[in-house]
Amino acid sequence: MSTIIEPFRIKTVEPIKMTTIDERTDILRAAHYNLFSIASRDVLIDLLTDSGTGAMSTKQWAAIMHGDESYAGSPSFERFQSAVQNLFPFEHIIPTHQGRAAEAILFSILGGAGKCIPSSTHFDTTRGNIEASGAEAHDLVILEGKDPQNLHPFKGNMDVEALDAFLTEHKGKVPCVMLTVTNNAGGGQPVSLQNIHATRDIAKKHGLLFIIDACRFAENAWFIKLREPGQQDRAIPDIVRDMFAGADGMTMSAKKDAFANIGGWLALNDDELAEKARTRLILTEGFPTYGGLAGRDLEAIAQGLDEIIDEDYLRYRVAVNEYIGQGFEKLGVPIVKPVGGHAVFIDARAFLPHIAPLQYPGQVLSCEMYRLAGVRACEIGTVMFSRKPDGTEVPATMDLVRLAIPRRTYTQSHADYMLEHMASIVDNKQNLHGMRITWEPPAMRHFTAKFEPLGAG
Ligand code: F0G
Repeated sequence: MSTIIEPFRIKTVEPIKMTTIDERTDILRAAHYNLFSIASRDVLIDLLTDSGTGAMSTKQWAAIMHGDESYAGSPSFERFQSAVQNLFPFEHIIPTHQGRAAEAILFSILGGAGKCIPSSTHFDTTRGNIEASGAEAHDLVILEGKDPQNLHPFKGNMDVEALDAFLTEHKGKVPCVMLTVTNNAGGGQPVSLQNIHATRDIAKKHGLLFIIDACRFAENAWFIKLREPGQQDRAIPDIVRDMFAGADGMTMSAKKDAFANIGGWLALNDDELAEKARTRLILTEGFPTYGGLAGRDLEAIAQGLDEIIDEDYLRYRVAVNEYIGQGFEKLGVPIVKPVGGHAVFIDARAFLPHIAPLQYPGQVLSCEMYRLAGVRACEIGTVMFSRKPDGTEVPATMDLVRLAIPRRTYTQSHADYMLEHMASIVDNKQNLHGMRITWEPPAMRHFTAKFEPLGAG
């Protein structure tokens, strides 16, 4: 196999400050073993998120200088709107400062007590916004999507039979059906074109709106091209338009598949719904021609949308994750398979079976990756999900560590360096011990909780 090279040259660099293991040991202790509490200057390779952390292109930086910051009627909005509408067939494009603001506006209108909103798997801000409105969020991903080792090519698919039954059972309570492409919470897994259309058709059969959470639409389209029979000869924009054909709306975080550091939008077809959304937008974000953004951000997004659908980029993007995933597998580190579009997920519970879920194997592994290599990853497991509203703690379904890969930011040697250090963790994993929480806030504890390693005894 020939090496897939980074399809770009580097013109501007951001130096990384080197640190030693001893320094990082002290930093970790001072941060109470919570990686969210560590300053980014103390991180060598930051894989906490792929959101807003990508590198912009020369054309994006140039576009920023064209930003028109007028309160109303900015030409930057026109360029943004036409770039969005070039790919997504929606009448009303409503810019927001990021994806969750689009969700908050949408569910302030569609949500409310007594409502139920199904998706394949809601991302946590989507779930949070639905629940904040008083409604319930339900996840109906296919069974294969919950098994880290299952090699199904589209593990982000909706269980369409379960959806159909759910909509019949909750008739009158469901305002819309959502679908997340790709399924971040399930490992960055894609949804097939066939499944997108089937989900849409079931929503329509029940007379409901079909809304796509489209954060990683281009990665999803690339997987469709690679894996779905009959799609190999189609251009990416063509696949994207097909994914959204017949949909009633989308929520989007431009911090992912639009190569921007900030931004998002809500797109809708229904005039009345859009009017309500714009009224809400003016209250919470800004005037409809800039929403929550500066004109220059709208320009960066418009240009980013041109670049994200480039096949050379998408081939490289997925190859990076596969390279890291294969590296882990060679070392015997269990990962969620197949490797997803934006991240590699390590199955920390399977990797550290001697650490009980309530002693947080994912937190232990991510802290050790930081201590040894300066790599910052994110626990997605018992720390994040296990505290119940009644105060009890039940282990999460899985204990994963997510290595989210920022777009166009790191090179292959960063990956090689991380894999070399992972090899030493594999050799010494028996010496790793669990952790306990010494303090936690009432909600979203993973961001601020304090931890303490349990002793070797
Ligand atoms: N939907 C999905 C699938 C996401 O992954 C995210 C963000 C959002 C919605 C919200 O978008 O951050 O712009 O408000 N995911 C980031 C992550 C935070 O790290 O996975 P946002």
